[in-house]
Amino acid sequence: MNPAYKRLTIAGLFLLIALVVVEMFAYDVIKISWVSFMEIQPAFQPMYHPLPVPTDAIPVEGVAFSLDLGVPPNPISADQTSLQRGNELFQINCVVCHGTGGRGDGPIASKLLNKPFDLTSFPIHSITDGGIFFVISTGVPGKMPALNENLTVRERWDVVNYVRTLK
Ligand code: HEC
Repeated sequence: MNPAYKRLTIAGLFLLIALVVVEMFAYDVIKISWVSFMEIQPAFQPMYHPLPVPTDAIPVEGVAFSLDLGVPPNPISADQTSLQRGNELFQINCVVCHGTGGRGDGPIASKLLNKPFDLTSFPIHSITDGGIFFVISTGVPGKMPALNENLTVRERWDVVNYVRTLK
């Protein structure tokens, strides 16, 4: 055999072996626990229950709200600006389920196992503003998603003020 071919074959063989070894790592035939894989660490998915506030954390949106501290009073007065904002945010975030008039007849309502609440009817009047605020923030497990990541604290109060005007 031509010596050049012989060398080429040997080099090729070495390359092949190197490739096989690399692939063994790539396909976890040989497992090494690398420092971390971002995708398999514990994570809080969007619209899941909000992350608990770490102790000593400083809230950037003003007072942090926690059910342990009781239901907060509504700090935002229901003026023209607040209601207008609340209306817009309601159209964006709530209408799909609760419907434009808040009657629980949004476009996807009929597809849901748990029917969205009629926001114009009796029980809503017995929930305080702070209660509605918490429903928007934390959702209702298995029924309504937490919207704390979609709406800032101020925006949530605006929506609360708007929901109050639905009769
Ligand atoms: C994915 C659909 C969905 C979206 C979006 C949604 N909701 Fe709901 N909501 C529901 C369902 C379903 C219920 C009924 C929960 C139950 O049966 O207790 C509910 C219940 C409620 C209740 C009553 C909670 C209670 O005490 O039972 C309020 C208040 C409310 N929603 C407000 C809102 C507001 C305000 C928004 C927008 C910021 C919103 N929801 C967005 C599905 C939704």
